Amino acid sequence: MTAATTVRSATVWAIRYGLPGFAIRAASRRGDLIARLTGDPVLRDDPFDAYDQLRAQGGLVTNNFISATATHQVASKVLRDNNFIASPGGAASEFLDRVLLAALDPSAIGPVDPPSLLTIHPPQHTRLRKLVAHAFTPRAIGALEGRIQAVADGLVDRLPTDGTPFDLVEDYAAQLPVTVIAEILGVPAAMHAEFLNWGNDAAATLDPALGYRRYRRADRALRELNAWFDQHLARLRRDPGDDLLSQLVHTVEDGDQLTDLELRTTASLLLGAGFETTVNLIGNGAQLLLAHPEQLDKLRADPTGWPGAVEEVLRYDSPVQITARIAGKATELADRPVPKGRGVVVMIGGANRDPDVFTDPHTFDVTRSNAREHLAFAAGIHYCLGAQLARLEGQVALRTLFERLPKLRAAGTPVRRETRVLRGFAELPVRG
Ligand code: HEM
Repeated sequence: MTAATTVRSATVWAIRYGLPGFAIRAASRRGDLIARLTGDPVLRDDPFDAYDQLRAQGGLVTNNFISATATHQVASKVLRDNNFIASPGGAASEFLDRVLLAALDPSAIGPVDPPSLLTIHPPQHTRLRKLVAHAFTPRAIGALEGRIQAVADGLVDRLPTDGTPFDLVEDYAAQLPVTVIAEILGVPAAMHAEFLNWGNDAAATLDPALGYRRYRRADRALRELNAWFDQHLARLRRDPGDDLLSQLVHTVEDGDQLTDLELRTTASLLLGAGFETTVNLIGNGAQLLLAHPEQLDKLRADPTGWPGAVEEVLRYDSPVQITARIAGKATELADRPVPKGRGVVVMIGGANRDPDVFTDPHTFDVTRSNAREHLAFAAGIHYCLGAQLARLEGQVALRTLFERLPKLRAAGTPVRRETRVLRGFAELPVRG
């Protein structure tokens, strides 16, 4: 890296993670609940009491810097109201956002930098989403079911069934989504291990208090990934495969087409948004069902319950716990004024445990009739583009695992990941 690149990358880190991290740690020490929920490692394992406390303080809770909600009603409103916008740079102010965007190095544009769908607004968002959605129609996703089933079966074939312990995350939960996402992106099997590493690094960059060392690692990985994608996209232009990325390369709608930068950012968003989230869905689901055998018995008695069970896992142990928006203009929420530019943290994991919507919200119940009202895939214009795919992967992965390994049981203490925005397991020791 040149000195200029290092300065740019340090500037991006300082604005995006250094300053917020400092403010979050200082406010956490004072006991500020929003800061603690965003960055206190103690709450990573079990944030649910703290969500309840936040909700008890009202629909919208405000400290010196930021507002937050853990109620389903206010969370839905913020996500669906286009006056609340996804921040282009993720910085705390418009000025810092501008500095950050100017400092961003084009070769280090990542899944949460413009022109990523996650950080652009209408009309740009409408245009790009329409183009990308071509590759994610229910028909395109449905067509992947046979392949997902074959991948799950192939992975279970390799798991030990003689009582030898293994790590369910490394040997199963992580393998299925990486294979699926690699096939969507037309990535050769030889690159899977590399993709697993890139996916892990990308996931870490979602946390607002990311340390400099981890940031540098993620930044380096991102540059490698971008360079690899540039070559890969050039290959797909010359010689398209039947993968979804090849489709995107050649999609033309009313004479409009994705630019090279949009294609590369979308590819890295699909990897960043679609990989670790799905690993966490499968890991969280497996752990919950092992810990609640009576729920697993219900699914064994009635396998048509699997889709509902996956909705309950998404609600109860949401793989994405937090997102945020910025008020694009002065407005009101829960009868409280919200000034223009105010950041609002949406505690998805808290909204999904709101007793006003979900009876006995802290009970894991695979037959819950309204589990699908969860906000695990957000809502509004940024509603997860991969929701159908994630649901399908979750259902196939969990059903196949428990049907084919009927003696599966825990073999040690599960270890949660260090991330706070994403919630899942780093290790899940089991035996079959
Ligand atoms: C269980 C797995 C998943 C969960 C919980 C999840 C969750 C989410 C959430 C909460 C958002 C909105 C973030 C925000 O508004 O701030 C989102 C957006 C998105 N997700 Fe997912 N996701 C999952 C899997 C996937 C998969 C498999 C893909 C694709 C391969 C994917 C692609 C996307 C994309 C492209 C967006 C941006 C949409 C936009 O801004 O218009 N996700 N996801």
